[in-house]
Amino acid sequence: MQQLTNKQILVGVTGGIAAYKAAELIRRLQDHGATVRVIMTKAAQAFITPLTLQALSGNPVHCDLLDSEAEAAMGHIELARWADLVLIAPASADFMARLATGQADDLLATVCLATNASIAIAPSMNQGMWRDQSTQQNLQTLISKQVLVFGPGDGSQACGDIGPGRMMEPEQLAVEASSVFKIGSLDGVKIVITAGPTREAIDPVRYISNHSSGKMGFALAQAAMDAGASVTLITGPVSLQTPERVTRIDINSAAEMHQAVIETLPVCDIFIGSAAVADYRPTSIADQKIKKSTETMTIELVRNPDIIADVSNHPQRPFTIGFAAETQDVESYARGKLEKKKLDLIIANDVSNTAIGFNSDNNAVSVIWNDGKVSLPMTSKQQLGRHLIEEICQHYRKK
Ligand code: PMT
Repeated sequence: MQQLTNKQILVGVTGGIAAYKAAELIRRLQDHGATVRVIMTKAAQAFITPLTLQALSGNPVHCDLLDSEAEAAMGHIELARWADLVLIAPASADFMARLATGQADDLLATVCLATNASIAIAPSMNQGMWRDQSTQQNLQTLISKQVLVFGPGDGSQACGDIGPGRMMEPEQLAVEASSVFKIGSLDGVKIVITAGPTREAIDPVRYISNHSSGKMGFALAQAAMDAGASVTLITGPVSLQTPERVTRIDINSAAEMHQAVIETLPVCDIFIGSAAVADYRPTSIADQKIKKSTETMTIELVRNPDIIADVSNHPQRPFTIGFAAETQDVESYARGKLEKKKLDLIIANDVSNTAIGFNSDNNAVSVIWNDGKVSLPMTSKQQLGRHLIEEICQHYRKK
């Protein structure tokens, strides 16, 4: 099974004889469904060429923090945001020391500082270097900073020694990488998620809509799936691939979304309304294309049903989570909606910033409940989706 589908893995290669295994690792990660980009340190390039890893990953290899051309194409901050996981394999003793002390003296170390993604290391070094007190202290520091440590294995080493310090084999590393994305706490829970925009027809060729791309809702569906939930995704018109094993229902208008949502309620434990539902629709839809006969024209609108309010007032009410897309006074408007629509949680999205919110690849939100709030900083919508599902899961379990 492709457990890394839609996952973006940044492989960091540092200097050591096991660097040649990075080529195999890229292949194994791709076999599991991941998209891979590579950063190499200067020392790594003495063992394997960037060209080899570029050919295998299908992406340019990033080597230098101070290369203005590479920075213009995909800068270190963009790389840090792009990654769902930074996997450093092999991780040399020197790199572990630099990571433990928070250095920013090359591209890989800088990206590790900048990223919100999980960081995993696959140590590889001589057994004496591995056993050394400094390395062991660095290891403990890294573990205390939530860095994941894959391996090392025991056995014969390139230098002729026998002992711990062999890099874990590439296939095993790919399996470990998959396990990072298993949230696993929503086994058997049924989740319904709405995503994308709605289209409110004016005539056979025109409609009122908004800029929602569906990316946030689809990322939530993927994360919920990874957490073991069974997921139904009710979506407006978007051009996104359905996450594997998610049941997708396509709708156009708010009225269609309303009907599809209400029909799922008998088998819904958690409802997440991330769709940008049109609040109004034209009072009537013209049978034929409207001709331009006057200088101005007025379209009368009527209120659409409030889908999420109906969900939260339904006799078969699930744990109900809304989004609030706001351009000003974000928290106070979001709290107003939390109360008015009687939601369990609301996710406040400041959409005045075009780098986040509608149709962007990244997002930053606050999860708000009656007597609390947690802010989740800007990261990819995939990564944010996982953080949100973890947060939702904790609140759902408490209830
Ligand atoms: O799709 P993307 O491009 O990835 O962008 C993501 C997003 C910005 C659309 C998403 O993060 C987001 O904020 N979604 C909510 C957008 C919205 O319409 O918010 P609202 O504040 O107008 O609505 C509040 C809540 O009521 C939402 O949960 C909404 O789904 C729901 N609603 C609104 C109107 C309506 N008639 N029925 C509803 O259920």
